[in-house]
Amino acid sequence: MNILVTGGAGYIGSHTIIELINACHSVTVVDNLCNSSSESLKRVEQITGTHIPFYKTDIRDRAGLETICSTTAFDACIHFAGLKAVGESVSLPWEYYENNINGTLVLVDVLRLHGCKNIIFSSSATVYGDPAMIPITETAPKGTCTNPYGWTKWMIEQILTDFHTADNSWNIVLLRYFNPIGAHSSGLIGENPNGIPNNLMPYITQVAVGKLEKLHVFGNDYDTPDGTGVRDYIHVVDLARGHVAALSAIENNCGVEVYNLGTGKGYSVLDMIKAFESVNGVKIPYVIDPRRPGDIGTCYSAPGKAAEELGWKAEYGIEDMVRDSWNWQKKNPNGYEA
Ligand code: NAD
Ligand code: WQD
Repeated sequence: MNILVTGGAGYIGSHTIIELINACHSVTVVDNLCNSSSESLKRVEQITGTHIPFYKTDIRDRAGLETICSTTAFDACIHFAGLKAVGESVSLPWEYYENNINGTLVLVDVLRLHGCKNIIFSSSATVYGDPAMIPITETAPKGTCTNPYGWTKWMIEQILTDFHTADNSWNIVLLRYFNPIGAHSSGLIGENPNGIPNNLMPYITQVAVGKLEKLHVFGNDYDTPDGTGVRDYIHVVDLARGHVAALSAIENNCGVEVYNLGTGKGYSVLDMIKAFESVNGVKIPYVIDPRRPGDIGTCYSAPGKAAEELGWKAEYGIEDMVRDSWNWQKKNPNGYEA
């Protein structure tokens, strides 16, 4: 298929392009590079030996998108572009609602005007809020989000669903990611956060490489086996392959479908530290701090629906994830900057 990938220079997008090319799809990337570097795409070209058409365009730029969609007829769009920092969204709610929601509205309008009504959207387990059940199935109710970022995912899911209600020629796949970590085995591409990382794994790798002194573990009094937060970490390459699998739902005229992309296994913060230390032979000093506001104790998926309907399941384990996260960080201590 001919796929438009928004946000393709970012962490998950860059890994997904590789898997799309491996599966013989054609890819065009749109990204404004507000949280990424075009170097990631150069490295994807190096890994795949394939030229990737790239437009440095904002998805809110209607004229820019019109030009792209007039040049190429797309069969589907995989829509990653968006702002994603939870804490920043609390202090910049307008920017998050405007970028994520307005960006999606402009994108889908231009797509439909050019006859493309097939979209795969990057949603998040955050839409479950404090989950009503563990493991979380797709039938669990959407919950109350604790930040504007989460609400943008919640609302975009609703907006896309409403499009299908009004016009059932749309095919919409809402992929709810759990906690993506890891990197391509080459170590050429990986997660490249701006400033001090908010997420656990990039924080750990920056402690390991000596950029940060120690990890702050946010709370050890949750109702979990060791008291620290439990999450469903998923290797970004598995996650990327989930998008390729989701194209089969589009091809089968799925209407609106929601899929969890997770492993179904929960690991605590202390499990992650131990796994990182033992696989990589690097010590991670840490201190226990108070809980982080808005955090929940336990979150992991029931991944069965994607297995049954898409034939997809995560293949990599926690050792692979911590090994590949470290391989990327140690080869690129400053990310994509030289
Ligand atoms: P990322 O920041 O690395 O990638 C997002 C990309 O979108 C960046 O390259 C950025 O430059 C681009 N972008 C942002 N706004 C844009 C705009 N208006 N026009 C064009 N490009 C724009 O993030 P990621 O981790 O790769 O996440 C990809 C998607 O998955 C995001 O929508 C994110 O919310 C979602 N998601 C991520 C996680 C996670 O933990 N990483 C979890 C759940 C969902
Ligand atoms: C994981 C665990 C923390 C950092 C967030 C977003 C979610 C999604 C993925 C996009 C928790 C603990 C973390 C640290 C710590 N993103 N932790 N010290 O919070 O599950 O999900 O990213 O959609 O929307 O909320 O991921 O990696 O931040 O935290 O102890 O320095 O690690 O408390 O238990 P989270 P995370």
